[in-house]
Amino acid sequence: MASAQKNIVILISGSGSNMAAIARAADKEGWHGKWGAQVAAVISNRADAVGLELAQSLGIATAVVPHKDFASREAFDAELMARIDAHAPALVVLAGFMRILTPGFVQHYAGRLINIHPSLLPAFTGLNTHQRAIDAGCKVAGATVHEVTAELDHGATLAQAVVPVLPGDTAETLAARVLTQEHLIFPQAVRGFFERKA
Ligand code: GAR
Repeated sequence: MASAQKNIVILISGSGSNMAAIARAADKEGWHGKWGAQVAAVISNRADAVGLELAQSLGIATAVVPHKDFASREAFDAELMARIDAHAPALVVLAGFMRILTPGFVQHYAGRLINIHPSLLPAFTGLNTHQRAIDAGCKVAGATVHEVTAELDHGATLAQAVVPVLPGDTAETLAARVLTQEHLIFPQAVRGFFERKA
């Protein structure tokens, strides 16, 4: 029995493969019928994000808020919040959204803002996670879905996936191996969010 509409807004900056994994899981698993949950919009800070076309091909509304058009992080985040809030979201998902968010933004979406990070947090916060894992001699790497708090790449862990680091791996080969797992754990974490709310 579907309950009230629960909109998901997904923020992307690039290829949008995690966004598509979530949208496809929502469709395949009937999230709308189960919980009223649906991907209502995909918003990018970059007009050239490949994921925008992917979202449109999945029938999802898209918007672009170019961060370069704003003089400050606060001004960008204010416009981004307005565009997100037009959908009254139950959940805001950062899926390869490569902007640091202001504390005001994070506070505004407290309890309904999640991110995927391509490392086994708390290891390797920040950028270049795969190369850093290789350089550190790690035997395993992975990805983490977590609640977003004001501190970058912190917040409660919702899901993690582990992959081996293989001899001869480059940042690219490791990233590709991790990404296949991201496509499993991210939809799983979003599903878990709505299951807990049900
Ligand atoms: C993913 O690997 C995600 O973990 C990473 O960006 C990629 C986006 O791919 N996120 C971060 O690095 C966040 N700091 P996608 O656009 O194909 O989903």
